[in-house]
Amino acid sequence: MKHSTRVALITSGGDCQGLNAAIRGVGKTLTQYVDNIEIFGMYDGYRGLIESDYSYMEAKDFSGILTQGGTVLGTSRQNYIPGQAIVDQDGNDVMPAMMDTYTRLNLDCVVVMGGNGTQKSAKLMMDAGMNVITLPKTIDNDIFGTDITFGFQSAVDIATNVMDYIHTTASSHGRIFLVELMGRDAGWLTLHAGIASGADVILIPEIPYDLACIEDVIERRKKRGRNYSIIAVAEGAIARGDALLSEDERRAIKERTEYPTISYRIARELQEITGQEARVAIPGHYQRGGPPCPYDRVLASQFGTAAAHLIIEKQYGYMVGMQKGEIVPVPLEEAASKTKFLPPDHPLIQSARDVGTGFGN
Ligand code: F6P
Repeated sequence: MKHSTRVALITSGGDCQGLNAAIRGVGKTLTQYVDNIEIFGMYDGYRGLIESDYSYMEAKDFSGILTQGGTVLGTSRQNYIPGQAIVDQDGNDVMPAMMDTYTRLNLDCVVVMGGNGTQKSAKLMMDAGMNVITLPKTIDNDIFGTDITFGFQSAVDIATNVMDYIHTTASSHGRIFLVELMGRDAGWLTLHAGIASGADVILIPEIPYDLACIEDVIERRKKRGRNYSIIAVAEGAIARGDALLSEDERRAIKERTEYPTISYRIARELQEITGQEARVAIPGHYQRGGPPCPYDRVLASQFGTAAAHLIIEKQYGYMVGMQKGEIVPVPLEEAASKTKFLPPDHPLIQSARDVGTGFGN
């Protein structure tokens, strides 16, 4: 006969700010309201579940971590074959090993905090028979079923700060500056940081760019006496011509390109056609580092406590999300079904256009 409620916590995929706040939210709520609760912290993402590498977490382990960046549990990226299997580096199915830990620990639920890939893997775990609840974390804000993910706002703050700093040096030297931001194939981070820092042009994957349109913005600025321009470039930005190619053709171009990233290519091309010096700045993983901003501390805490309440109510198979300001359970099959890209007709894009920001189209 089972006497305790047993829950495993996992942080998986790329880290972001707010993971510890979410762990604290789940842990403190469960230890406060559930008698005989046993919580296991799995180390380094799914690896901990696969290899049975974990430690037992007590109430004190959830104290003092609210404001810390990173994740106290560690994280890793786990390969998966979409809709089919979670696999190791050699392509072997790791579900039997995961299930083995799950049954040996007699778990009631696994709480998985992760991005898009992690949601898909968690859905596979659910299909295999595990009770799963997920939380949406990523600086990319590209998880379907939630208006916002934790980590996103902290990354926007950092990216905006970088762009503010670049602004002054770009102005002193009369340069074009391209600031390349993360976000994978979604433009949320670049759009928000671009608007917040008053970028002259914002290039996002969802709106393929035309070089002549960027040049046009730069030349118009010059006519108004502005000798510098700031361009926010999403790492997944794509030229209009390239967007028309097949995936294989695009991959071939990427393989033989001399440019480390898209911004270097745009910088070289702009320098050639405008005759103005163009430079690139890439904050990279700096955007995922450091303490969560207050908004993310609040959001991740709310998501964490909501996950705990779902466990208490034995409601499994959900991702906790935010829709229209409300914290809601989103069926995991929905959250894992697709990526939330930026709609090109999003009101924020129109608002940016209204103040004269270009989108390269
Ligand atoms: O998904 C989060 C993210 O930071 C993306 O914005 C970026 O493309 C990717 O992860 C970087 O991954 P890694 O940390 O594995 O280099």
